[in-house]
Amino acid sequence: MAEELVVTKTAGKNQKYEELLPQIKGLIQDEPDMIANLANVAAALHQSFGFFWVGFYIVREEQLVLGPFQGPIACTRINYGKGVCGTSWKEDKTIIVEDVEKFPGHIACSSDSRSEIVIPLHKEGKVCMVLDIDSDKVNDFDATDQKHLETIMKMLENTF
Ligand code: SME
Repeated sequence: MAEELVVTKTAGKNQKYEELLPQIKGLIQDEPDMIANLANVAAALHQSFGFFWVGFYIVREEQLVLGPFQGPIACTRINYGKGVCGTSWKEDKTIIVEDVEKFPGHIACSSDSRSEIVIPLHKEGKVCMVLDIDSDKVNDFDATDQKHLETIMKMLENTF
């Protein structure tokens, strides 16, 4: 049985990630089921930071298909190279969008989303899914988020 997640509410972003990382590692390292781990990572990030939407899109043939997430209902399928998620998949890199209105081709699952970060995950050297986080604030993501989220994605990759 998982213990309760504990993150200092008043802490800055970097400290929150530093508190969260070992707890996420503890949650997923002995669990081989991918869906269970994706679900708990989405919940842990949503609960700790209060992001508007946190979830995974999984590569299924030529599309990304909605996986475990926390937040309002979302688009179920995204084509290769489309939107922020499809671009992250195609270019195989993390993408930070400071203002979604300025990203050509951004797919608006909700009009409340203002900024976004998408991080690819890999299996056998290929992108197998992406983590997508949306904020209702403009410019809410930076290199601190990228660094820690990429570390969490590496932890997840080790459980596949
Ligand atoms: N905005 C994303 C689509 C997914 S939703 O934000 C949950 C995109 O442009 O790929």
